[in-house]
Amino acid sequence: MANTDNLTGINDGNRQMKTSDKELSTKPAAEVTEILESFSLSKSNLQEISQLMRQNMDRGLNSATNASAIVKMYPSFVRSLPDGTEKGDFFALDLGGSNFRVLLVQLLDGDVKMKSKIYKISQETMTGTGEQLFDSIADSLAEFKAEQGLGDTDLPLGFTFSFPCKQMGLATATLVKWTKGFTASNVEGKDVVQLLKEACKRKNVNLQIVALVNDTVGTLMSCAYSCRDAYIGLILGTGTNACYMEKLSDVGTWTGDDKEPREVIINMEWGAFGDDGCLDDYRTEFDREMDGLTLNKSKQLYEKMISGMYLGEIVRLALVKLGSSGHLFGGKVSEDLKTAWKFETRFLTDIEGDASSENAECRSILTNLGLTTSPSDLTIVRSVCVAVSTRAAKLAVAGLAAVISKIGLNELTIAVDGSLYKKHPTFKPNMEQFLKELVPSVSVKLMLSEDGSGKGAALVAAVAARLSS
Ligand code: BGC
Repeated sequence: MANTDNLTGINDGNRQMKTSDKELSTKPAAEVTEILESFSLSKSNLQEISQLMRQNMDRGLNSATNASAIVKMYPSFVRSLPDGTEKGDFFALDLGGSNFRVLLVQLLDGDVKMKSKIYKISQETMTGTGEQLFDSIADSLAEFKAEQGLGDTDLPLGFTFSFPCKQMGLATATLVKWTKGFTASNVEGKDVVQLLKEACKRKNVNLQIVALVNDTVGTLMSCAYSCRDAYIGLILGTGTNACYMEKLSDVGTWTGDDKEPREVIINMEWGAFGDDGCLDDYRTEFDREMDGLTLNKSKQLYEKMISGMYLGEIVRLALVKLGSSGHLFGGKVSEDLKTAWKFETRFLTDIEGDASSENAECRSILTNLGLTTSPSDLTIVRSVCVAVSTRAAKLAVAGLAAVISKIGLNELTIAVDGSLYKKHPTFKPNMEQFLKELVPSVSVKLMLSEDGSGKGAALVAAVAARLSS
């Protein structure tokens, strides 16, 4: 793919070879350059991807095309952002990755107090039966309530469930398909609120579930509690997704009432963008190989180029290829590097965050993986990490540019949460730079919505309580 008009942005992946590095006195081998180039995206590539996203959004919103649409644009049934007057005590549950959280959220005059506890969800529970999964959620809720001295108390509860769900109401939601390594049986096609209620009944836990929300929606809600111009919620963590506030008149699939407020938050489920092959020209051999190793092959292809669950594996596959062809590690690829998923995305964060000229962090990570490295190996490995993370930031921005153009405001804030965004050293500045270049006429602010997904579920419950009182 021609990349003549590459964004001028900082840290452009394949331009990251530090030419000043003394150790890299010769030019990198053609294969190294070729691999780095394969991750490169030009400004016109991003504009094209952005337009494709926009077309997919329109297909998802239109009732005539929604059935075959890839980006489903699910109405969340959340119609109002918080206005800061919400108050009361709420429980929240947050399930979206290998950690599950139970929270007690207290809202008062724009202030939020939270107590929470994290429970690990084992691989067996993620891939076992739905009954086991929901029973373990009910057990954790019971334990948390007891620890808080609220054993029998029946506070309203918001459930953040961060998987693609078709909602029929605020507290009715069918799981369409699992993502992010979950495969628990007998859940797809079922109402997850019902499954939680049944588990709580089996375990004798009182439950008053008033809302089910996606983590993007929670993130937007929690930011909007203090920030008036937040219109988009974005997650860049294990998975990726976005939501935004849309006019009811543009939501052809809307089945709810037409009363004020005539708008609704749309959970885009943008991770599935590309599942019809429209991003195939931009996917590399490593994207394809990594996809083949996942439990949801050929699904969530945009998510798999962007989010934390996958970036490390893409880098690992590129390093294995370069090692096997003698361009890295003296041609010796260790067993650890040959092992799928062994190169974690946090390694990209550590390697790219190391400002020392010796790439000491990179050396230590590779040594721990049983590899012998030369200084030029370290430079190349770092460049591969930068290329993969830069591409991810660019792709996320291409998607955001489509949403920003749909919203049509001159100024707005995007509420963001997720480990990749929070921990990676250049993800945020890269996104800011690319946003400036891709949507120069709109002033866009990225705002961290710390703990958004848990807090947001309580806020949805609180707004529902405010509107019904
Ligand atoms: C899920 C989304 C979620 C995103 C971020 C994706 O895999 O489909 O529902 O919002 O991950 O957690």
